[in-house]
Amino acid sequence: MVKLIIKEDYSGMSKEAFNIFRGSFDSAKVLGFATGSTPLGLYQLISEEAKSGRISFDGKLTFNLDEYCGVDSTDSSSFRYYMDQNLLLKAGIDPSRIHFPDSRIDPEVAARHYREEYLKYGPVDLQILGIGRNGHIAFNEPGSALESVTRVVELSEDTLDANRPKSRKAITMGVKEILESKKILLLASGKDKSMALMRALRGAPNSSVPASFLQMHGDVTFVLDEEAASMLEA
Ligand code: GLP
Repeated sequence: MVKLIIKEDYSGMSKEAFNIFRGSFDSAKVLGFATGSTPLGLYQLISEEAKSGRISFDGKLTFNLDEYCGVDSTDSSSFRYYMDQNLLLKAGIDPSRIHFPDSRIDPEVAARHYREEYLKYGPVDLQILGIGRNGHIAFNEPGSALESVTRVVELSEDTLDANRPKSRKAITMGVKEILESKKILLLASGKDKSMALMRALRGAPNSSVPASFLQMHGDVTFVLDEEAASMLEA
């Protein structure tokens, strides 16, 4: 069952997400992170907590959900760069404990390696998620199967329009691996996401809205701001 928490605005959503994250942090060994503008507030709060020494990433591992193909980690449009700038470097996380799809090598090989790393260290204890306007989670675009695992995907037109990436392809963890996470925290903010959330939460789980599969998970919390939740309350 999905637990739903609605906060007034972005700042309230970020603080609530941080409190939930903080409550599970100590017992979590493998942390799963998402990119996008939505978790920036949460990542800022986590970074401050780590800098102040109140939490430590020692002994933990991080896995990111996805990366564009062929976009190097030094490129400011890569997800690795985003994570480095917004959390991983700020929180002083040991690079050897950070797991990311390798965007520099052949994508099929990189996807296979990443799947192997996941099988070795996973599942994720605490997974942070966002949601795309079309209901995608990570880069599991509409049509992604419940049983999908880490693979190379073509991005949808809607995602290309929203993100304007340098690559039309990405490596993403699959729906199956996301659902294997012990605890999931999905954040969403703004009117842009209201339709996707309505379809994810009010319809039966189906592959045309990959986020709807989250209804099948035993410990998932959606933390939304009022705008994102506006179509749920109507
Ligand atoms: C990307 C990522 C997703 C993320 C989504 C939403 O497509 N692959 O993991 O949830 O964007 O991004 P934003 O938070 O910027 O709306």
